[in-house]
Amino acid sequence: MADKIFKIALLGFGNAGQAFAKMLLAKEEKIEKVYDTKILVTAIATGSKGNLVKATGVDLVRALDDVEKYGKFKNEDELVSLSTMEIVEQADYDAIAEMTPLNIFTGQPAISHIEGAFTRGKHAITANKGPIAWKYKELKELARQKGVKFFYETTVMDGTPVFNLVEKTLPLAEVTEVSGILNSTTNFILEEMAAGCDYEDIMERGRQLGFVEADPAMDIEGYDAAAKITALLNVLMDADITPDKVDRKGIEDITMADIEEAAAEGKVIKLLCRGYRDESGCVVAKVAPEKVDKGDLLATVNSTTSIVSITTDMMKTVTVVEHEPEIEQTAFGVFGDLMRILGE
Ligand SMILES: NC(=O)c1ccc[n+]([C@@H]2O[C@H](COP(=O)([O-])OP(=O)(O)OC[C@H]3O[C@@H](n4cnc5c(N)ncnc54)[C@H](OP(=O)(O)O)[C@@H]3O)[C@@H](O)[C@H]2O)c1
Repeated sequence: MADKIFKIALLGFGNAGQAFAKMLLAKEEKIEKVYDTKILVTAIATGSKGNLVKATGVDLVRALDDVEKYGKFKNEDELVSLSTMEIVEQADYDAIAEMTPLNIFTGQPAISHIEGAFTRGKHAITANKGPIAWKYKELKELARQKGVKFFYETTVMDGTPVFNLVEKTLPLAEVTEVSGILNSTTNFILEEMAAGCDYEDIMERGRQLGFVEADPAMDIEGYDAAAKITALLNVLMDADITPDKVDRKGIEDITMADIEEAAAEGKVIKLLCRGYRDESGCVVAKVAPEKVDKGDLLATVNSTTSIVSITTDMMKTVTVVEHEPEIEQTAFGVFGDLMRILGE
């Protein structure tokens, strides 16, 4: 039996939330053994499946089963009429895991959820990049004032260490530039176009494979990539920018003729994200389709694989590649952040 108990409230129980819950169950014994801690999920908030609260821990197995069988929670002992914000303000927990949908234009309501947890002196983990793209500096400062942890590894490239990599393994190295391919939908579309496929067929197949959203505009017009490079630059370069400050161009105007022209030059077109300091020291962020030499590492990044290169003053450029992630890699990002809270 573990000596300690750590209570967590899950805000959002969709793909990421359910995968995270399954990971907690699968690693229950190991967590107890390594951290001498029992994790209790004391609340789960959703948009339409109902909200669960139980200070001694909700029945996670039943919550997962009910959602799978009935599409909603059915455990009357745990169902409450509290809203998500009321759960943040009133439920018994040590940390929230913010896994509600991204609002790419405001970062809300996730920002309020995290502020609410911090105000009560609770830790926060977010998979939702909205808060990091729109209010990172303020949230980090509030967490510092309240003496709580704020981790967000999942927000860019899922559980692949990017923020942790810099913080934990590149001591005192100053990040001078960040670049990469961070949006898998556009990467998939460009790759298929280069293979000569018809645009409508690509979109249809992408939807079937889950690579393309019902409304793909956020990806195609570069908004998602802009939010990701903003999050990276805010954390790694103290940029203090918001996604609307990114010089953004998506792939909406790329034609087969552009792809063929690039191929004739021995190049491929990729949607690249970049951030660096200009002469005045301000961080400049850009998302745009660019031609890349076929021999370049970036040209080999296909399908849902992502890549980020971090250039520093002391360790030159370190590049991290995430190979075709699945939902478990998203869940692992949240899981890793939770283990970090337990371990620090
Ligand atoms: N999926 C990924 O691969 C991935 C990777 C990295 C980061 N993320 C981020 O992780 C977050 C979750 O992604 P996901 O794929 O799990 O999304 P999802 O499947 O759409 O799940 C979102 C969950 O949030 C719930 N929700 C909506 N509004 C809410 C509110 N106001 N309060 C509480 N819950 C609310 C939804 O309720 P219903 O169940 O009733 O719909 C659902 O359970 C997003 O911010 C996403 O950007 C996802």
